[in-house]
Amino acid sequence: MKKRTHTCGALIAKNAGKKVVLMGWCDARRDHGGLIFVDLRDRFGRTQIVFDPKVAEKIMPLAKEIRSEYVLAIEGIVRKRPKGMENKKMATGAIEVLVHDCAILNRSPVPPFEISDETTVSEDIRLKYRFLDLRRPKMQRTMILRHLAAQSVRRSLSEQGFLEIETPMLTRSTPEGARDYLVPSRVQPGKFFALPQSPQLFKQLLMISGFDKYFQIVKCFRDEDLRADRQPEFTQIDIETSFLGRDAILEMVEELMGSLFKETLGQKLPKTFDRISFHDAMNRYGSDKPDRRIPWQLENVSEIFKNSPFKIFAQAVADKKVIQALKVSPAATLTRKDFEALEQEAKGMGAKGLGWAKQTHEGWQSPIAKNFSEEERQTLIKKLKIKEGDAILFAADEWALACSVLGALRLSLAKKLKVLDESQTDIFWVLDFPLFEYRLEEKRYVSVHHPFTSPFPEDLKFLTSDPSKVRSLGYDLVLNGYEIGGGSIRIHDRGLQQQVFEILNISSEEAQRRFGFLLSALEYGAPPHGGIALGFDRLIMLLAHCESIRDVIAFPKTASATCLMTQAPSDVDAEQLKELHIRITP
Ligand code: AMO
Repeated sequence: MKKRTHTCGALIAKNAGKKVVLMGWCDARRDHGGLIFVDLRDRFGRTQIVFDPKVAEKIMPLAKEIRSEYVLAIEGIVRKRPKGMENKKMATGAIEVLVHDCAILNRSPVPPFEISDETTVSEDIRLKYRFLDLRRPKMQRTMILRHLAAQSVRRSLSEQGFLEIETPMLTRSTPEGARDYLVPSRVQPGKFFALPQSPQLFKQLLMISGFDKYFQIVKCFRDEDLRADRQPEFTQIDIETSFLGRDAILEMVEELMGSLFKETLGQKLPKTFDRISFHDAMNRYGSDKPDRRIPWQLENVSEIFKNSPFKIFAQAVADKKVIQALKVSPAATLTRKDFEALEQEAKGMGAKGLGWAKQTHEGWQSPIAKNFSEEERQTLIKKLKIKEGDAILFAADEWALACSVLGALRLSLAKKLKVLDESQTDIFWVLDFPLFEYRLEEKRYVSVHHPFTSPFPEDLKFLTSDPSKVRSLGYDLVLNGYEIGGGSIRIHDRGLQQQVFEILNISSEEAQRRFGFLLSALEYGAPPHGGIALGFDRLIMLLAHCESIRDVIAFPKTASATCLMTQAPSDVDAEQLKELHIRITP
């Protein structure tokens, strides 16, 4: 067979009369008695080809053999489709190719599912036959989008003076707080490499080496509980810069995201993104990655109930807790049963209970509102602008818990009541996180971002007196309710880094053992530096409007961190284990 002249997405009416050679897969075959029609598919599109016994009698037996997913090469003449037979939905719908010669390049058994966008087969089967699943046009479009996004990032960052530098995959534990994937060393018995949870320390070292602006589209590995937006092995757009302050870094990322959206979706993002504080995000939306497209906000109503006849609320305020309220509107369809289910959901998150009240034609429907004073009811109606058909959820608890419980219910109710406008894009920064969070169960502080994040210079005075008051120069980027990036200005002073380790209960010996190379580098003229990592898979998931991160990764893992296609992880030979000095105990 001759060389391919066109792809299956290329031919249009003006090519009529041209002799062409196409190659691709049989997408569908229709035998009309005399004529046989085949839709030939490749990643560029589909072209209708026609076998006509009057034109090429000798290839008709071959045409009859063709089945779905057979690989074909055909030679033929392009012709306009008869009037009225054009397919406007297909890029090549104006033409068809009349086949003169054909070869079957390969055959296929009946595939386990149809290679089309409308497959209803389970995800497990799709993952087992991922090589076929990836043939589906939707998956091909997603992978193409992913490629375009990567190219856009590379171009945009290169133009801004960034250098792409690779960092090791076989390294030692990096501090992102998840469990490591370990790789045993054969040459150093009993020793292990860790796969990087991120290139965090290496990118800081590259700044100390004077590279000024670094980026990498890089694999990271974290052995953590998996969810729809989490994979054990995922990709970051990892960035680090020297001599830029926080705001300059945010602007650089805004420019990067702006060109990414424009070049992949043709969509214009605002030139600068909103910036909200961590406190406001929690207080208003009950989340540090809020979906602001949901038109409901939390309100602090402690003041209204501080002297309430309803003892539970009055006591909560007396105990320095807060009463947060969420107005759900319209909520007329929610029943007592729904509210009881919401209360169970709240309890599952650690709340002691969930108050609720619904404003109906007959007045309040609520297990608690009868205990409110008339004045409290009126103030509440006024403050929350409550009207008939609205419901209010109340959480009386420690501030963080009250906020996060209502924040989670806000999300699940918005989905249930379909109040979210999915066509909108909302991207913004969350800033001013606390540097540390106190873990009651471990009785110690942990970093909210990671231990290399710089405190606010004006909060240094609290480092010894009250670490919980120290704000961080960290930032998160949130897109449509997902955290798509996180970063910070780093500590570049050896002494300050040591002090932060101490607050985190990392002894100087441990710090030396784990991060000695960084501490040493910090002594040799470390420039002020900072950066960010964007979750590339999450970003593509949102750009492609996919529900799961697995749909934008060519060969993903399941929720139990296995690959259904290769069956990894798998047993290994006894000989391999012996070489690695490893014995498996049952
Ligand atoms: P962080 O841990 O916040 O920061 O990660 C950055 C971004 O990576 C994405 N992400 C994930 N995506 C898929 N699966 C996962 N398991 C997963 N974990 C994280 C998220 C997240 O916002 N070194 C720092 C960055 C820095 O400080 O510069 C870091 O890795 O979108």
